[in-house]
Amino acid sequence: MPIPRIRTICCIGAGYVGGPTMAVIADKCPQIQVNVVDLNQSRIDAWNSKDLTQLPIYEPGLDEVIKRTRGRNLNFSVDINEAIANADIVFISVNTPTKNKGLGAGQASDLRWVEACARQVAQYSQGHTIVVEKSTLPVRTAATIKAILEAAQEAKETTKNISRTFSVVSNPEFLAEGSAIKDLEIPDRVLIGGSDPNAIEALASIYSHWVPTKKILRTNLWSSELSKLTANAFLAQRISSINSVAAICEVTGADVREVAIAIGTDSRIGNQFLNSGPGFGGSCFQKDILNLVYLCHHFGLPEVASYWEGVVLINSWQKKRIAKLVVHKLFGTVSGKRLAILGFAFKANTNDTREAASIQISKDLLEEGAHLAIYDPQVKEDRIASDLQQQPGFPSTWEAPEKNTQFYSEGIWVSCNSVAEAVEGSDAVIILTEWEEFRSVDWNNLATFMRKPAWVFDTRSIINVDSVITSGLRLWRIGDGES
Ligand code: UDX
Ligand code: ADP
Repeated sequence: MPIPRIRTICCIGAGYVGGPTMAVIADKCPQIQVNVVDLNQSRIDAWNSKDLTQLPIYEPGLDEVIKRTRGRNLNFSVDINEAIANADIVFISVNTPTKNKGLGAGQASDLRWVEACARQVAQYSQGHTIVVEKSTLPVRTAATIKAILEAAQEAKETTKNISRTFSVVSNPEFLAEGSAIKDLEIPDRVLIGGSDPNAIEALASIYSHWVPTKKILRTNLWSSELSKLTANAFLAQRISSINSVAAICEVTGADVREVAIAIGTDSRIGNQFLNSGPGFGGSCFQKDILNLVYLCHHFGLPEVASYWEGVVLINSWQKKRIAKLVVHKLFGTVSGKRLAILGFAFKANTNDTREAASIQISKDLLEEGAHLAIYDPQVKEDRIASDLQQQPGFPSTWEAPEKNTQFYSEGIWVSCNSVAEAVEGSDAVIILTEWEEFRSVDWNNLATFMRKPAWVFDTRSIINVDSVITSGLRLWRIGDGES
């Protein structure tokens, strides 16, 4: 069979991966029609909104790409079956969260959405279709997809004799949120795994419109799937390593930023991904490591499983220890105290809060009775309410004695529209996301609106230390030992 020519792409799943990836493919390949489909109508409506500030995800540079491509060769819709039928290649980019019940709960990925997609492709595709695993998946998921597709192929007699053939390839996404457009336009590498050389070359031909040939790596299916899990595991491991070093710094008088520079200048270690913080978040790291742990147990490798599990354990500990030390510094109680939380997204330049450290830290502080004033430039109030599983404000049943809200000792939170609004009247400011606007805060001015003694907790090493100190505020920085 010759290498199939790709004219039409269907991408199932218009999320943080599917949306930006397809926008960049459409931008780089104007001759290919790219149809992105999702069963969530409101998400599709948001992708189609005229006002580009209303796109469902915030990603620097995405609006420009959408402006160039949408309506030209990029289309967003809920017509999933039609898009599958027209496609030469189908990308599966649906969510694969960690299972919360049943076999493998807490570790294995929930593949029900992937399986549903495979069945839909099996039913509605026409002719030969290349199916691409784009979502992060446990190793050997391609085998499941293949089995479903092959069953459909064999059953063609019962389905109006429409001839269907399939090739399955793995093409994991390595983009990081907040820099997704740059990561897609100038990737470190593109990885394609599979056993059908024609399918691999067909997919490679899409990327070769803008990615240099030497950056397009070809592997077998399992290597490709495992590479994605292990790339994320290695990255997460670096963060847990530096976070554990930060804790040692705090008790010994070392400074984690200095240590990071000192070790990062060793070219074997490298200087990237060594920023100590409140603990990694995002939809991938924890899920992928837990997947790896599950896989290791499955294949009788308990020592390897516990090695990787340690990375997640340190991360959970890091989040817990930050909430605890805030309480400790505020004289052992935060009940009824107003604490400004700056940043709720799991990192800067995204509106994504999945697994964000802010969720656990905020929940722990709410549990202690804190009144949180949360400000994030991109995260909306309803997202925070859903993450904290609590509505904002005082319960309607509560009447403030003499309007002094500090008598209320249960945890409550409000969402604010600016740094100044969040900080006003607070006992402490806790910086949890490294948004650019938090770097240039005028502490001298803000300090006058805080209740003394007031604290700044900088978990991202982004504040100007001198300006906090001269403003008279007390400062705690991650990994900053008192020498
Ligand atoms: C990650 C991988 O980087 C990407 O290749 C993969 O495709 C998906 O998972 P993402 O989760 O979007 O991307 O963001 P990333 O930049 O990796 O950050 C993950 C978390 O680690 C964030 O919470 C971030 O704040 C934290 N982090 C990152 C640190 O705490 N310190 C660092 O030095 C780097
Ligand atoms: P990711 O970060 O992996 O892109 P998201 O949760 O942002 O994950 O996006 C996944 C998208 O996939 C969601 O918009 C969801 O509605 C969509 N989705 C899940 N299952 C299906 C399905 N069977 N058909 C179409 N879309 C689906």
